[in-house]
Amino acid sequence: MKKHIAVLSGDGIGPEVTAQALKVLKAVGEVYGHEFAYKEALVGACAIDATGNPFPEETEQVCQQADAILFGAIGHPKYDNDPKAKVRPEQGLLAMRKKLGLFSNVRPVKSYKALLPISPLKEEIIDGTDFVVFRELTGGIYFGQPRGRSEDGKNAFDTCAYSTDEITRVSRLAFEAAQNRRKKVTLVDKANVLATSRLWRETVKELVSEYPDVELDFMFVDNAAMKIIQNPRDFDVVLTENMFGDIITDEASVISGSLGMLPSASIGLNQSLYEPIHGSYPQAAGKNIANPFGAILSAAMLLEYSFGMIEESKAINDAVMQAMDEGFVTEDINKDQAKGTEEVGDHVTEYIKQLTTV
Ligand code: IPM
Ligand code: MN
Repeated sequence: MKKHIAVLSGDGIGPEVTAQALKVLKAVGEVYGHEFAYKEALVGACAIDATGNPFPEETEQVCQQADAILFGAIGHPKYDNDPKAKVRPEQGLLAMRKKLGLFSNVRPVKSYKALLPISPLKEEIIDGTDFVVFRELTGGIYFGQPRGRSEDGKNAFDTCAYSTDEITRVSRLAFEAAQNRRKKVTLVDKANVLATSRLWRETVKELVSEYPDVELDFMFVDNAAMKIIQNPRDFDVVLTENMFGDIITDEASVISGSLGMLPSASIGLNQSLYEPIHGSYPQAAGKNIANPFGAILSAAMLLEYSFGMIEESKAINDAVMQAMDEGFVTEDINKDQAKGTEEVGDHVTEYIKQLTTV
């Protein structure tokens, strides 16, 4: 059956890296005999330029009608220097998460043998790291009401709010993931200070009784920030709220050696969205130097999570490993002998294509 994929390349390096992921997906389609249909739509700064809205109605329709969404990145420097800009590309991202109900962000963190030397962390500490962060994505301080300014402009406020339902649905995904892994979930919170964190603890503690094979432990976020780079192998599944997840996943990306490596999935109520975590990186846009692995590995997650195509997903992961082993990497990984974004994408694509002959 034909699978419909919405393609939202976005801004900055988004289009370049997404193009590589699409090449790889097309090769997978050919080799494994799947029919993928792609439909492009605007999001972010390019959508503001075209329509005034960072997440236009039409884009929402395209996403709603798709079986899965492949997303690049959004953001443009002209908005970063203008704190008073009324519409910002990031609003498109937040609107998209909320409107599509993308409640659980899944960010795997791995160390790659070929990249151990380029991490600023010691090899013996990060070697063998393999954990996954489940970050709640549509609640907490990102969306809580009320938020804003007092009338005299001298006070500003945000609200962190969570319901047991919001906590439960993302926690279930984390527990299920743990059952297929090393069966350990660490809830990261600030229960010594925050009421929302205490609700998280209570709710998650109750829920774990339904997953008797899973071990649950708790860690305050400040301590977790330290332990993640001190003893990263100790973690299996990390479960946390929106803001803490935002911060610790950037931190954890250092373990992989390059932010450009990390894929992510945002699991939704009807369909899910897949994106590299690196963002729009405008300084590199159009230069054919951006690392496409995050986008390509996001396409692999799409095949696995949305379409259940485990073998195809594994083939892409193998292809990326092989590209790294053979030195087909961009300048963030090897400054002296860097290949271009396109060349790396082509190399991965060729690896997939030659699987037909086996
Ligand atoms: C991320 C980003 C976003 C977030 C920004 C761009 C709003 O940092 O996806 O992690 O904070 O969630
Ligand atoms: Mn972030």
